[in-house]
Amino acid sequence: MGTIGQCNTQALKTMYGHHEELVSGVLQRTSRVLENLQSPTSFGEGLGELVFYIEREVLNHAKAEEETIYVLAKTQLALAAIIDEMIQEHEKISVLTRSLKEVPSGPKWIVYALELNSLFASHVTKENVVVLPALARDSSIDLAQLLHEMHGNFEERLSNFENKGQSKDNKGKAADEQVVDVRTIAPRSRHELIFSTFCELEPGESFVLVNDHDPKPLRYQFQAEFTESFSWDYLESGPSTWRVKIRRTN
Ligand SMILES: [Fe+2]
Ligand SMILES: [Fe+2]
Repeated sequence: MGTIGQCNTQALKTMYGHHEELVSGVLQRTSRVLENLQSPTSFGEGLGELVFYIEREVLNHAKAEEETIYVLAKTQLALAAIIDEMIQEHEKISVLTRSLKEVPSGPKWIVYALELNSLFASHVTKENVVVLPALARDSSIDLAQLLHEMHGNFEERLSNFENKGQSKDNKGKAADEQVVDVRTIAPRSRHELIFSTFCELEPGESFVLVNDHDPKPLRYQFQAEFTESFSWDYLESGPSTWRVKIRRTN
């Protein structure tokens, strides 16, 4: 095997690993949502985190793939039809994710989340056993280079994704979701800012709190002060960034 061949094999392994991580990332977060549905006190918890994970990790991965691997795969006659199908599956995953976000009902979440998991798992299997090996076998293709490009696009998309949050942050309430990033704010002023932001919300409105550690103590304080008037949903739980959607419920 030449260098390209060896690098392609290595690149394949990396890609399989990333796929495995994504599939289990979606599955773990789905299980949490389903478990919480059975408890009246934590009903709905974890849904925001599942949606955030898919939007950030899975859909950006899918787009980066469409810009790199899929472009080349489509030029291979044997793969053209399957790639069209795979792009439609990406779209379906995005539609299901939107449904999860927009439908306010537990039973429907189960339907959408399970469909999303099985679709994503079979999609990834097709990529792993059909698309990627076909590309790796083609000695004219430098798969390692292609995956490197894909990774670059993915990273760029992730940073755009983060910046979207930041720009909403700057625009404050004019944006559809207010973001309060307390990472650069002196600890003594944090709680005051968070509570005053909460108190300015109309019932049904929410903001996203961004912090560099789990703001659990703050949650206890919310529970003590606003008992039934807020909901608390983790969108991201570390290891370096925590995002919590805090909503005023009445
Ligand atoms: Fe894909
Ligand atoms: Fe993929």
